[in-house]
Amino acid sequence: MITRATVIAALDAIRDPKSGQGLVAAGLAQGLTVTEDRAGFVMEVPAGDTALYAPVRDAAEAALKAIPGMARVSVVLTAETAPATKPARTAALSPQAVEQTRAGAPVPTDRPAHVRRVLAVASGKGGVGKSTVAANLAAALTARGLSVGVLDADVYGPSMPTMLGVSGKPEYRDGMIEPHTAHSLKVMSVGLLTGANDAMVWRGPMASQAITQMLTQTRWGTEAAPLDILVVDLPPGTGDVQLTLIQKTPLDGAVIVSTPQEVALADARRAHALFQKVKVPTLGLIENMSGDVFGRGGAEAEAARLGVSFLGDLPLDAALREAGDAGTPLVSADRDGDTARRFAEVAARVADVLGI
Ligand SMILES: Nc1ncnc2c1ncn2[C@@H]1O[C@H](COP(=O)(O)OP(=O)(O)OP(=O)(O)O)[C@@H](O)[C@H]1O
Ligand SMILES: [Mg+2]
Repeated sequence: MITRATVIAALDAIRDPKSGQGLVAAGLAQGLTVTEDRAGFVMEVPAGDTALYAPVRDAAEAALKAIPGMARVSVVLTAETAPATKPARTAALSPQAVEQTRAGAPVPTDRPAHVRRVLAVASGKGGVGKSTVAANLAAALTARGLSVGVLDADVYGPSMPTMLGVSGKPEYRDGMIEPHTAHSLKVMSVGLLTGANDAMVWRGPMASQAITQMLTQTRWGTEAAPLDILVVDLPPGTGDVQLTLIQKTPLDGAVIVSTPQEVALADARRAHALFQKVKVPTLGLIENMSGDVFGRGGAEAEAARLGVSFLGDLPLDAALREAGDAGTPLVSADRDGDTARRFAEVAARVADVLGI
């Protein structure tokens, strides 16, 4: 059983290079979470100091791992957001998005530099295939000639490292995180930051700080080669963590994934309500696992009831799961297959409404 005092003592033995104080005393262990066998915190440092603090993060991680009985450690290094120099939008938003302006909504964090559009893939309920859809939709968008990034913000169970076959801590260069590249996609995952491909005990503030960091400190694009669209895989559900994340994230729109079942549809309604609350346009509903087992058409009817677009249905297809488990989206592995064609249709509608 690890105590908070043990963790604090271990962290205070490491010095803040600026103040010379221990890390906790220096206020550098924010959102410190200690459970039976896990510990984690966020180290927020002034913008531009991430390189200076990267070795400190590594030392803190090593010190926590050395505590007997410690199973998992997560230290997230984030930079304070610099005063806003917001990149101008490179194209007008879709009419629908403009109509549902974010006026009056909580102020999101700064937009990531050199990223034209940020799209959330959400679901009210877990296990409906949200990550599968996010990965394959991203692959289908690259097939349209777009430059695409995937941000895995699922703090409960990051799956992009597995689905896209990436691993290893991302590197910092010139104060920015270098994303991994796989299947022509730029990839960052909360699973790469924690060094574990599974769920971690995240408190709301830690989660949103980590997401903000991955969003704004990752070199998604450059001035010469901007990213057309960043696809964000959100954690499932409609609770406080999701609300905080979508409030803080400068989203241009959201797609909601649902299975045809009534229970999943009720959750899709809640997800839509959540986006309405923060004035992010729901671009539409996607029906996943459509077919014999779950029925078909439920999401289309639900979209009509909610007054949002129906973006398409994707079949229950074992090859989708197998490709995901093997680290390649099916859309990239089998470009001419029926499922890839369905994703291409969804991607065309999404690109159209986002004006890319
Ligand atoms: N259309 C499909 N056909 C067959 N299998 C699918 C399909 N969509 C998803 N799956 C499989 O269902 C499982 C859950 O999918 P996935 O992980 O994408 O869901 P999720 O909504 O992201 O789940 P979580 O809530 O855990 O994040 C995975 O094993 C995936 O491969
Ligand atoms: Mg998922």
